[in-house]
Amino acid sequence: MSTVNLVEKLYREHNLTDSELKEILLTTDSKVDKALQKYAQKVRDKVFGKNVYIRGLIEVSNYCKNDCYYCGIRRSNKNICRYRLTKEQILDCCKKGYVLGFRTFVLQGGEDFHYSDDDICSIVSEIKSNFSDCAVTLSIGERSYESYKKYYDAGADRFLLREETSNPLHYRKLHPQEMSLENRIQCLYNLKKIGYQVGCGIMIGSPYQTVDDIILDLRFFQKFMPHMIGIGPFVPHKDTDFRDKPIGDLKLTLRTLGIIRLMINDVLLPSTTALSTIDPKGRILGILYGGNVVMPNLSPQFAKEHYTLYDGKLSTGKESGEMVKELEKSLKNFDYSIEISRGDTPRK
Ligand code: 5AD
Repeated sequence: MSTVNLVEKLYREHNLTDSELKEILLTTDSKVDKALQKYAQKVRDKVFGKNVYIRGLIEVSNYCKNDCYYCGIRRSNKNICRYRLTKEQILDCCKKGYVLGFRTFVLQGGEDFHYSDDDICSIVSEIKSNFSDCAVTLSIGERSYESYKKYYDAGADRFLLREETSNPLHYRKLHPQEMSLENRIQCLYNLKKIGYQVGCGIMIGSPYQTVDDIILDLRFFQKFMPHMIGIGPFVPHKDTDFRDKPIGDLKLTLRTLGIIRLMINDVLLPSTTALSTIDPKGRILGILYGGNVVMPNLSPQFAKEHYTLYDGKLSTGKESGEMVKELEKSLKNFDYSIEISRGDTPRK
C-alpha cells in the first residue's frame, strides 16, 4: 500500500500498525503531507466546525522544585529571575482576558509548593465565582490524589500534565532519578478518575527520542484517551545541559499532530507556542494539520519574560488584544474563526 493510502486507511480505521505509522512519520513524499492535512482538516471540521478555541495562558510561577534536564525553569538554573503571581494579579489577567473573549484560563506554573492546596483552591474558586461562564485549567504538575480532588471540588475543570515520553528509559534520560514516569502516569489516571478533562502530551525531538518512542506515545494516547493532547517541538534552553541539542523537527511535529487527529477524532489539539517559536507559520500550520486550539499568553509582561521554558519563547510586548486580532486575521485567510466559548471536550 502506498504511504498516501496509509493515510486514507488511518482516516477510515483510526489505526495502523507500528511500521505503517513509522512510514507516515518518516515520509519524504510531499503528497503524504498533503493527504494528512486534507484528512486531518476534514475530521476536525466535522467534529468542531471551522472554529478554533482560545485559552488564556497565565504563567503563575516560575519556581520549580524539579530539575528536568530540558527545561529552563528547572530548579538548578540560577540565571533566572524567579517570580510568583499573587491572586490579585491572576484575577487581573482573567479580567483582561474575559473582555477579549477568553472563556478558559489556564493557570500554568512550575511545581511551586509555596502555593498550598488552600491557596490554589481559593484562586480557583475566586476565578469561578467572578467569571461563572469560564473554565479553569490547571497545569501545575504532580500532586496527590487528595490535592487534585480538592482543586476539582473548588471548581477546576481541566488539568494539563504532559507525560513527556511513554518510554521509561527515555524518561530517565530527560529527568533526574527522583522523578518517575510511573508516578506521572498515575497522576493522569487519578485526574481522569476525579472527573477532570485531562490533557497529556510530549515534546517532539526531545534529546534521545526515537521514532519508535513517538509510536509508543501514540499507543499511550490510544489507551489513555485524553481529552486534550499537547504536542510541541523540543527547543533547547541555554542554561540546561541540552543547550546544544537540536530543535525538534517541524515536519515531524506536524505529522504527529495530523496522525493524532486521525486516530482520536474528538481530541482537543493545540497548535502550541513552541511550534510558533520554531517557525513563523507554525501556529497556522498546526491548525492545518488538525489542531483546533490556541493558547495566547495573558501573563503580565514581566512573567512572560521570565517564564523561559526554552530559548526564544515568544514573549513580545504585544498587548493580548493585539495578539487576538492578529490571530483572527491569520485564521480568516483559511476560513477559520475564533469561537468565544469554554470549548469543552465534545466527548460524552
Ligand atoms: N522545549 C520545548 N518544550 C518544553 N517544555 C519544557 N521545556 C521545554 C523545552 N526546552 C514543555 C514541557 C512541559 C511544558 C509545560 O513545556 O513539555 O510539559
